Amino acid sequence: MHAIERRRFLTYLAGSPLLSAADTTPLSEILNVMDLEPAARAVLPPAHFGYLATGVDDDATLRANRQGFERFYLRPRRLVDIRTVDLRTELFGTVWDSPIALAPVGNQKAFHPEGEVPVARAAKARKTLQVLSTAATTSVEDLARELGRPPWYQLYTASRWDAVESMLRRVEHTGCPVVLWTVDTHAGRRTETFERAKRLDKRECAACHGTRREDFFRRKPMYAGVNVESLGTTNPALQWADLTRLRKLTSAKILIKGIETREDAQLCREQGVDGIVVSNHGGRAEESGRGTIECLPEVIEGAGGLPVLIDGGFRRGTDIFKALALGAKAVFVGRPYIWGLAAHGQPGVEKVIDMLNAELALVMRQCGVTSVRQIGKSYVGAR
Ligand code: FNR
Repeated sequence: MHAIERRRFLTYLAGSPLLSAADTTPLSEILNVMDLEPAARAVLPPAHFGYLATGVDDDATLRANRQGFERFYLRPRRLVDIRTVDLRTELFGTVWDSPIALAPVGNQKAFHPEGEVPVARAAKARKTLQVLSTAATTSVEDLARELGRPPWYQLYTASRWDAVESMLRRVEHTGCPVVLWTVDTHAGRRTETFERAKRLDKRECAACHGTRREDFFRRKPMYAGVNVESLGTTNPALQWADLTRLRKLTSAKILIKGIETREDAQLCREQGVDGIVVSNHGGRAEESGRGTIECLPEVIEGAGGLPVLIDGGFRRGTDIFKALALGAKAVFVGRPYIWGLAAHGQPGVEKVIDMLNAELALVMRQCGVTSVRQIGKSYVGAR
């Protein structure tokens, strides 16, 4: 019996993220956010890294998110006084230190034993916007405590509305000012890179976090108190009319996350949505084959003045500058801060925020703009 317990414990340790954090690349050697990807890979179990890295089908949309930036080039202006640049950005009544924000990413305890908490500490230290996922491994109440303010909340509308209502009641009670309603995964998906990575992983998943349906919900505090009997995490029946229903459940601003076309942007405006997040879930929704930066111009057109935010493949200050120039109000990053979290915890996340902010400030100087508000269409062209 004793030997079995010991073996279980060792199996748990072997499967635990951060086991060999000391072996990863030191932060002092990290030059850009991409350098943190192999650093994260070195410390994560292959299955966890596969979950983070995967796109869908052939990962073509994942690649398109990066390649899309090549279609756009910068149009720098000279002889402007660029001694100071101001990255501060106002979003729905709050001024943040920069337009770069942390996208909702579920299951962060798969990447660090404390999950979303070190991310919150980094976000607080850098006055950076953090969005909590419905699939988070930290509750909205605990996250608000760490952040010192309520986070924005990302909502997956479960298959039953009583579950949505119960979650939103907590979100409302915590005082979350904005809800991002993610609408791009209702159809299901094939994450083949993740499936292959799981096969490579020789750890005993069940020993560490369980693999049954009830284990999934038990590890997600936003489902606490929800009747999860036969509950689906998404709802394929959803339609535009359901927005009215959602409106009745929250006083927060509602942004729709996962918009890629002019038509849907127009519908967002007609239906009274408060804002749009152009996103293909980091290449993890459908294999559209189009990068989000390429979707942005038509969405801005359809949005007719609604605030438009964006994510998908942003890794450089120049990427962020291009999106702002095309009309986005803010840019979310997903995987990069998770690489930082996995490899180095809170300092790793801070390093990601610092590097992206520094790169953005540099490209602003190079283009002759001194505040985020000044970054307009004339600073970018398309091939
Ligand atoms: C995500 N994303 C995501 N989106 C969401 O609305 N709710 C969620 O729970 C998650 N979970 C999640 C997990 C993992 C591991 C990844 C990589 C992504 C999508 C995320 O919010 C964002 O759209 C993308 O990550 C942006 O692309 P990049 O920056 O990762 O390329």
